Amino acid sequence: MLRINLKEGYSNMPTAKVVFATITGNNEDCADIITEALEDLGVEVDETEISQTDASELKDYDINVIVPYTYDEGALPEEGMDFFDDLADLDLSGKIFGVAGSGDTFYEEYYCLAVDKFSAAMAGTNATKGAEDLKINLAPESQEDLDNLDNFASDLVNSFNSK
Ligand SMILES: Cc1cc2nc3c(=O)[nH]c(=O)nc-3n(C[C@H](O)[C@H](O)[C@H](O)COP(=O)(O)O)c2cc1C
Repeated sequence: MLRINLKEGYSNMPTAKVVFATITGNNEDCADIITEALEDLGVEVDETEISQTDASELKDYDINVIVPYTYDEGALPEEGMDFFDDLADLDLSGKIFGVAGSGDTFYEEYYCLAVDKFSAAMAGTNATKGAEDLKINLAPESQEDLDNLDNFASDLVNSFNSK
C-alpha cells in the first residue's frame, strides 16, 4: 500500500544501495538475492557493480549493502580499491549498513576476509550495522544460504524501522 505523508510527500519507503564485486558471479548472485528480498520488504533498491560506483553515492540511501569477493589470501577486490579507500573520508551517520559476501572455506583463516574489512570500513563511517556480517561459501545455493540472505535483508529493514 502506498502511504502518503502529507508533510513529506510520497511514502516513507526506505531506499537501499547494494554494491557488489564479482569475478565468477557468486557475489552478484548474493547481491541479487539480497536485492530481491529487500524489494519484497518494500525497499526501493539500486544495485550496482563496485567499479561503477562512487562511494559518495552511499550518502543518498537509507540502507547500504556491500557484497565483496575475497581473493589471494584475504585480499580485497582490486577493482574496488578506490571505493574502499574513499570510505575512509565518508560520514554515513544515521545510515544502516550490512556486509555479506561469498568466499571459499578452503582458504581457512582467509575465508571471506573482504567481508570483515568492508564491515570495519563501513563502521568507520559512523553508519550503524543493521545486520550481522554474513559469509557464504561459494555459490548461494543451499536453503540455509537463501534463508541467511533473506534474514540478512529483513534484519537491515528492521534496524532501519527501529531507528
Ligand atoms: C586465486 C583465488 C584466490 C582466492 N582467495 C580467497 C581467499 O583468500 N579467501 C576466500 O574466502 N576465498 C578466496 N577465493 C575464493 C573466492 O572468493 C570464491 O570463489 C568466491 O565465491 C568468488 O566470488 P565471485 O564468484 O563473486 O567472483 C579465491 C579464489 C581464487 C580463484
